Amino acid sequence: MSEQEFIPAELKNLAGSGETTWRAPSNIALVKYWGKYPGQIPANPSISFTLSTSATTTGIKFNKQGDGREKPSFDLLFEGSPNRAFEPKINSFIERILPYVTWLPFYHLHINTSNSFPHSSGIASSASGMAALSLCIMDMEKKMNPGMSDEHFYRKASFLARLGSGSACRSIEGPIVSWGKHDHIKGGSDLYGTAFTDPVHQVFQNFQDTILLVHKGTKTVSSTAGHALMDGHAFAAQRFAQANRNLISMTDVLAKGDMDQFIELVESEALSLHAMMMTSIPYYLLMKPNTLAIIEKVWEFRKETGEALCFTLDAGANVHLLYPGESSEKVLQFIKNELVVYCEKGQYICDHIGAGAKKI
Ligand code: PMV
Repeated sequence: MSEQEFIPAELKNLAGSGETTWRAPSNIALVKYWGKYPGQIPANPSISFTLSTSATTTGIKFNKQGDGREKPSFDLLFEGSPNRAFEPKINSFIERILPYVTWLPFYHLHINTSNSFPHSSGIASSASGMAALSLCIMDMEKKMNPGMSDEHFYRKASFLARLGSGSACRSIEGPIVSWGKHDHIKGGSDLYGTAFTDPVHQVFQNFQDTILLVHKGTKTVSSTAGHALMDGHAFAAQRFAQANRNLISMTDVLAKGDMDQFIELVESEALSLHAMMMTSIPYYLLMKPNTLAIIEKVWEFRKETGEALCFTLDAGANVHLLYPGESSEKVLQFIKNELVVYCEKGQYICDHIGAGAKKI
């Protein structure tokens, strides 16, 4: 499979106008993507749970304009108000996807987007945001090419989302998605995410992710800068090899439902990700004192109760708590009693594993 597959044949029946809306969820990686090659090609394969509650809903109203020689134009409403802060990101996304959506310059796009999670909650909206936008664009393409297969539709949506933000390619389908070539993953590709089709133990069916909002401000170092610091990183080769090994172990754990091994892998992946940040040159820290306090509390709770509760981290200070649905009552009580004090304004988000994006 190559990029060529995603360049459309000349579309003759360009729609005059229309509209489309998609809701795409966020995702949380179990084996992390950290480090990339030019063209958003991941340095190692990753695998994630698709989430459900944390999502972006994006609508596009499109109108045909001009002769296709200009760049596509757009205006944007974020949560109901014009927002220019997103324009550079969307401009560079459009620039990157243009070779694969050659019909786009014929259009003006009215984009209307909103997140289910509070603004500046420290939750990255780039994965859900880029996924929802890509699905709207694919819906436009499908209107002009109605014979397009569902497989191509979702695969290309993931391909486009990847060009916007790497991990966004794992926010199209669900409930578990891998991204990156690997001998153990059937059909795995560096170009798009694929729904994980190997057997999955029933313990993961109703898995919960409670996101503790430790720090809601902007990060001191962006993910883009963090990925770039893996270039020439002293431990890059070891990290990429570790992620490849962990992916094999994770597919085994997902099949068997061995919670001890799941916990060990997930927590080790989270700490390895942050270890890369701490050992980059320049080095930096995204964890906050409250992040560490929560981690210590989780370890204590697990030791005392034997509940299968573990933590993972994105590139930020917030903590994702992962646990089986049947542990919900005990874990939520523990969060309320002991962890809320470490959350900014006492805020946390209850999310769970989900089926993927939906057309609205
Ligand atoms: O998609 P990006 O470029 O924002 O990278 C995000 C990477 C992590 O969230 C830290 C890990 C992952 O695999 O999602």
